[in-house]
Amino acid sequence: MEEFRIAAIPGDGIGTEVVTAGIEVLEAVAGRDGGFRLSFDHFDWGSDYYRRHGEMMPKDGLDRIRGHDAILFGAVGAPDVPDHVSLWGLRLAICQSFDQYANVRPVRLLPGIVGPLRGVSSDDLDWVIVRENSEGEYAGQGGRSHRGLPEEVATEVAIFTRAGVTRIMRFAFGLARSRPRKRLTVVTKSNAQRHGMVMWDEIAAEVAAEFPDVAWDKMLVDAMTARMTLHPATLDTIVATNLHADILSDLAAALAGSLGIAPTANLDPERRFPSMFEPIHGSAMDIVGKGIANPVATFWSAALMLDHFGEAAAAARLMRAVERVTADPSCHPPDLGGTATTRMVTDAMLAAICGENV
Ligand code: NAI
Ligand code: MG
Repeated sequence: MEEFRIAAIPGDGIGTEVVTAGIEVLEAVAGRDGGFRLSFDHFDWGSDYYRRHGEMMPKDGLDRIRGHDAILFGAVGAPDVPDHVSLWGLRLAICQSFDQYANVRPVRLLPGIVGPLRGVSSDDLDWVIVRENSEGEYAGQGGRSHRGLPEEVATEVAIFTRAGVTRIMRFAFGLARSRPRKRLTVVTKSNAQRHGMVMWDEIAAEVAAEFPDVAWDKMLVDAMTARMTLHPATLDTIVATNLHADILSDLAAALAGSLGIAPTANLDPERRFPSMFEPIHGSAMDIVGKGIANPVATFWSAALMLDHFGEAAAAARLMRAVERVTADPSCHPPDLGGTATTRMVTDAMLAAICGENV
């Protein structure tokens, strides 16, 4: 029987709460399916580790997870550790070293969830945002000189390479082709950013020629926020730069009801390295320890992981269980306006997975 080895990195805050729940659900799905096994190795990296060791993960951390089939990540971020230290020291260190260049963020209005948009159904709001995850505005290029002096200067340089843009466009067009509507919107800002974004547009047009069956259009990122809000049904697959997609996907998560249900996959599509699956949300220190973190984003991320393993039937079963749970208002935690706890939502998931009809 095939066994998949998963590196679990819960991280900080509610990361540990939702990853624990996610592992329970993954084990239940694997048990119900019977065709594959999952094993988990746990890594206590994060801000606590940083307080003890002065680094977010050990020096050989990447080597210790390189051989795993996937990474299940919670969140990092603590009030006493600067966010750029925790982010670059762990999450971005993994994404960049393992060349997880395609960040995939499905967004859908799940059954039972009332989003902020009036008259919008789950057929209307059913998107996948593809975020370029290796370069662009988060390439880490730049510096500061003359610190603290009046003439202090800082640069933050966005990097766009032909290789990097071409591969994310190919990935996005391919993903768009695999979905029923075969429609891709390329987000850009080529009116104001006239170098990198103009190349981005040119490469989009070149790659589009390889995918004649995909209908595509271009949107400036500012106008895109209005279109997502006012005409959600006109969108399907969306590709954008690291920064633009970061912002658009928080908007998308809010339009779909809550950050607490929004999943993401950081993929190395060539499978040279493990890919990483995580909820979009952060460590949510305001609710940590209260037992009310919504674990649905992590469950959905776990389904993306099973899909990545090629276990489509198990992934689909997990998503049917998610939909059954979200459809029941008594399973809504406070972020969805209810009173359910993480434990209650997880138990409802386990019951749905083990039930006869899912
Ligand atoms: P956040 O996502 O942690 O929280 C924003 C708001 O959404 C909070 O009110 C929180 O309670 C709520 N929320 C988030 N996830 C929830 C869930 N599963 N269930 C119920 N409510 C939920 O973002 P914030 O507050 O801006 O950042 C907190 C820390 O997390 C910071 O240190 C930040 O750098 C870090 N962060 C880490 C990320 C990661 O590891 N991927 C992503 C975003 C933020
Ligand atoms: Mg973000």
